[in-house]
Amino acid sequence: MEQVRKSIHGVWGSRWIFILAATGSAVGLGNIWKFPYITGENGGGAFVLVYLVCIALIGIPIMMAEVLIGKHGRQSPINAMRDVARVSSASKSWVLLGWLGAIAGFLILSYYSVIAGWALAYILRLGGGDYENATAETINDSFSQLQADPGEMIIWHSLFMLFTIIIVAHGVQRGLERAVRFLMPMLFLLLLILLGYALSIGSFSEGLEFLFKFNFDKLTWEGALTAMGHAFFTLSLGMGAIMVYGAYMPEKAPIGNTVLTIGILDTVVALVAGMAIFPIVIANGLQFNAGPGLIFQTLPIAFSQLPGGQIFGALFFILVSFAAWSSAISLIEPAVAWAVERFNVKRAVITAIFGVFAWLLGTATVFSFNIWKDVKLLGFNIFEGLDFLTANIMLPLGGMFIAIFVGWVMQRDIVKNEINLSSKAFISWDFVVKVIAPLAVFIVFSLAIYKQFFGG
Ligand code: TRP
Repeated sequence: MEQVRKSIHGVWGSRWIFILAATGSAVGLGNIWKFPYITGENGGGAFVLVYLVCIALIGIPIMMAEVLIGKHGRQSPINAMRDVARVSSASKSWVLLGWLGAIAGFLILSYYSVIAGWALAYILRLGGGDYENATAETINDSFSQLQADPGEMIIWHSLFMLFTIIIVAHGVQRGLERAVRFLMPMLFLLLLILLGYALSIGSFSEGLEFLFKFNFDKLTWEGALTAMGHAFFTLSLGMGAIMVYGAYMPEKAPIGNTVLTIGILDTVVALVAGMAIFPIVIANGLQFNAGPGLIFQTLPIAFSQLPGGQIFGALFFILVSFAAWSSAISLIEPAVAWAVERFNVKRAVITAIFGVFAWLLGTATVFSFNIWKDVKLLGFNIFEGLDFLTANIMLPLGGMFIAIFVGWVMQRDIVKNEINLSSKAFISWDFVVKVIAPLAVFIVFSLAIYKQFFGG
C-alpha cells in the first residue's frame, strides 16, 4: 500500500520549529499554574519525585511513541490511528483511541480557557497598578472577588477562546508556527527574573526543601496518580496533540533527541516555576494547599514588592497567557484536523464551531467557582471533576494504549524505521514501551482509583 508522506495541513518549517511548537504545547498552565498548586496540595518532595520519575520513565518514551504514530500517519490522530491499524492488520477499534483523544482535548480546553482567562484578568490588574504595595490580604481578596464574579470570568474566558480560534483558524504555518516563535524564549526570561526575586527574599532554601525533600509519609496513592496524570498533562500526552504535531514534522527530524529536548525544557520550566513560587509562599506565611488560586495569590505579592513590579507582573501574566495560548491550540488541533480531512470544509469554519462548543462547556467551569460551587459528584465540583476525568483518567489510559499499540500491535518494521534509534537505545525504549510504561500506568491507576472510590 502506498503511503501518504505529507499532511494536507502543512509541515513545520524545520526540526526546531517542531521542537518549539511541541514545547509550546507542553509548556503552559500545567507548568506554571498546576504543577505548583498540586505540589502544594500533595506535600511537596515525594510528589515531585514521583512526577519526575513518571516524566522520565513513562512520559518521554510514550511521547516518542505518539510522535511516531503521527509522523507515520501524516493525518489527524483519528485517521492516523485508523490507517496505521489497517496497515498493521490490527483491529479497527484502535481508531477509538483517536476519538477518545479528541474528546479529551475538548474537555481540557473548556476549563483550560477559563483559567487562562484568569491570567488575562491579572494582566490588567497588575498593569493597572491594583497591587502596588498591597498586602497579602488585599491580594487574596481580589482573587476571591474574581472567582465570585461569573460575568467577569466569562468575559476573559471568551476572549481567550477567541484568541485560540484565531490562531488555529490560520493553520499550521501561518498560525501555529508564527505564534510560538517569539513567545517561548520571552517566557523563560521572565521566569528567571522571578527566580531571582525568590532567591533574594531569604526563604529560598526552605522552598527548595519543600520541593526536593522526599518525605514519603505525605504521599498517597491518589497523590501518585495525580503526579502521573500530571506527567501526561504537562507533556500534552495521551490525547493526540503531540501525535498531530508529529504529523507535521519534517521527514528527516530524529524522534528520539527531539522528544528528549522537549521533555527537558518542559520539566525545567515546571521546576523553575516551583522554585520561584514556594519561597514566596513561605516568606509570606501563605497556605501551601491554596489550590488553583495559588499563583494568583502568591506572585502578585512578589510583584508588589519589586521595583517596577507592576510592569514585570503585567508582563509575566502576558507571558503566562501566551504559554497557555500555545498550549490551547494543540488541544483543539486534533479535532480540527480530523474535520478538515473528513468534511473538506474550511479550517476557519470548523475551528469556530468547535471553539464555540468548548466555550459553552467552559461556562460550567466558570459557574463551578461560584453559583454551582456546591454541585458535586463523587465529591468533585464540575471543574475538579473535569480535571480528574481528563488528567487522571483519560490521559493516562490514552497513553497506556498508545504504548501498547506501538509496542505490541503496530508493524515492527514501521516502528523501527520511524524511530530510528541505535540498536541499544531501541532495545531499552522498546522494553519500556512494551512493558514498563503500560504496567506502571496500570498499577498506579488501579490502586489510586480503588483507594479514591472504594477504600480508606
Ligand atoms: N501541556 C499543557 C500544559 O501543561 C496543556 C496541554 C496542551 C495538554 N495540550 C495538551 C494536556 C494535550 C494534555 C493533552 O499546560
